[in-house]
Amino acid sequence: MKKILLFAGSNSSTSINKKLIQYVADNIKEAETEIINLEDYEPPMFSVDIEKEITSPESIQKLVKKFRNYDGFVVSTPEHNHIPPAFLKSILDWLSRVHLHIFEDEPRYFEDKPLLLLSTSPGKGGATRSIEHVEYLLSFGKPKLIGKFSLPSFNHNFEDGKITDQELDQKLKDLIKKLESEV
Ligand SMILES: Cc1cc2nc3c(=O)[nH]c(=O)nc-3n(C[C@H](O)[C@H](O)[C@H](O)COP(=O)(O)O)c2cc1C
Repeated sequence: MKKILLFAGSNSSTSINKKLIQYVADNIKEAETEIINLEDYEPPMFSVDIEKEITSPESIQKLVKKFRNYDGFVVSTPEHNHIPPAFLKSILDWLSRVHLHIFEDEPRYFEDKPLLLLSTSPGKGGATRSIEHVEYLLSFGKPKLIGKFSLPSFNHNFEDGKITDQELDQKLKDLIKKLESEV
């Protein structure tokens, strides 16, 4: 069976993006799923000085090696002041440098593998500005982006671990089907 890795770009223990990720995992039936906590791979805040000293954090290399075991990915991003949280940006900056220094002749970390990109926030925008930035930042990993979905007004549209708005729910489930067929 194909394997899909899912994670949210949040370091909040009560993250709504983690809840959305769990819902997507619950709805993937045609592949094995694993959810990781990105905090478990948290490197130091990106810095050129640290990069000169250590080249690439162990946790980032571990993350790239983990990605190789999966056939597809689901990533959900929060929005802080219209852009991804610094926590996620720092990790994506480190990831953008890893092939420069460590895995030079190897495929990029998401090379041609299907990616479903998600976002949510309590506001009406559902983090639609942040998702555009994350699409760009993840393009360094060369994924095959199969779709994007932003869940607006999380507290209104999500209850008991499920999306309550039928139309939004169907939209997401159609993308999940697409992901299952592309892995
Ligand atoms: C510093 C900060 C800035 C925020 N800026 C935005 C924003 O620009 N747009 C938005 O929709 N929500 C914004 N929010 C609210 C977040 O969407 C909300 O905290 C959400 O729960 C974050 O996702 P998470 O729970 O998965 O970490 C902001 C929250 C914080 C703490």
